[in-house]
Amino acid sequence: MAVKVCITGAAGQIAYSLIPSVAKGEVFGAKQPVIMTLLDIPPMMKVLEGVKMEMVDLALPLLQEVIVTDDPLVAFDNVDAAFLVGAMPRKEGMERKDLLAANVKIFQAQGDALEKKAKKDVKVLVVGNPANTNAAICSKNAKSISPANFSCLTRLDQNRAQAQIAEKLKVPVPTVKNVIIWGNHSSTQFPDSRFAIVEKGAEKVPITTVNKDPAFAEYLKTDFIKSVQQRGASVIKARGLSSAMSAANASVDHMRDWWQGTKDRWVSMGVFSNGEYGIPAGLMYSFPVTVANKKVTIVEGLDINDFAREKMDLTAKELKDEKAMADSALEQKK
Ligand code: NAI
Repeated sequence: MAVKVCITGAAGQIAYSLIPSVAKGEVFGAKQPVIMTLLDIPPMMKVLEGVKMEMVDLALPLLQEVIVTDDPLVAFDNVDAAFLVGAMPRKEGMERKDLLAANVKIFQAQGDALEKKAKKDVKVLVVGNPANTNAAICSKNAKSISPANFSCLTRLDQNRAQAQIAEKLKVPVPTVKNVIIWGNHSSTQFPDSRFAIVEKGAEKVPITTVNKDPAFAEYLKTDFIKSVQQRGASVIKARGLSSAMSAANASVDHMRDWWQGTKDRWVSMGVFSNGEYGIPAGLMYSFPVTVANKKVTIVEGLDINDFAREKMDLTAKELKDEKAMADSALEQKK
């Protein structure tokens, strides 16, 4: 049986890299057929027809059908998984609260449509910014779908953090494990390297044992954190466009691990807090998690020192404020 997958914002940059990976089997399995629905707004339908032509021309064995639409009710019909990439971009002069209000409307409508049409065990990954708050709003409007089936993308931040540590230590990227992103996908996120290890054969070596130089420990508390927090802005500055290839790649990593499991490592995902680590219950907050049988479990019992506590609370506060702003935008709509 084919897995039915929706990608929203399908005429955009991230989707252009994400679509082929999903269609080639990099997310749901190398032998798993897929049906793909692509959603965008009415002015983008011509572009989307072009994307569909290219998908046909990929001549892929796993891609059974492509459905292009501007109607969320069609896009989410019976879907098993959804990548919610499309969002209102920040325009010049636009205030944060206006951006949030515009996105609240989009994610409220998409939550409604998921509620009406998607499978009840659908896995929803929100990529469009502000990703955490958008995911929370979407879930709120899809009451019959478990909140555990909603998540948001912080895997790009994790990948950035992992790559920076690997580069500093001159080790292969996949051998660096258990770097954590806490909190919001924003510049208040806390990239936490305190539990990171390098795998050397069967041995797991803490990164500060791999490099014992006090300057490295200092870097981890200062420039490392800043450069991961600011990496998105640095890419925009250099490229003139926001991260797309790496965001698509991280979306693949996130959904693949949700679908197929994390095996022997932690990954970071934005998920609803149940009060873990003193983070208010109901906040969509990035935690270290493991996944088995499509069930996400927050890694518990990690030591939180004063340094970490302050940073974790700061990003939680930003999320609380965002949620309050979103709730007030929803109230005004009523
Ligand atoms: P883009 O502007 O190239 O594409 C966005 C697409 O979404 C456009 O085709 C637009 O027409 C569509 N769209 C807008 N409203 C829609 C709606 N109501 N329904 C369906 N489609 C809609 O943007 P790009 O580069 O693909 O980025 C998409 C989003 O992902 C942005 O919000 C961006 O900030 C976010 N992002 C998130 C990251 C993360 O790590 N969470 C990383 C990078 C980007």
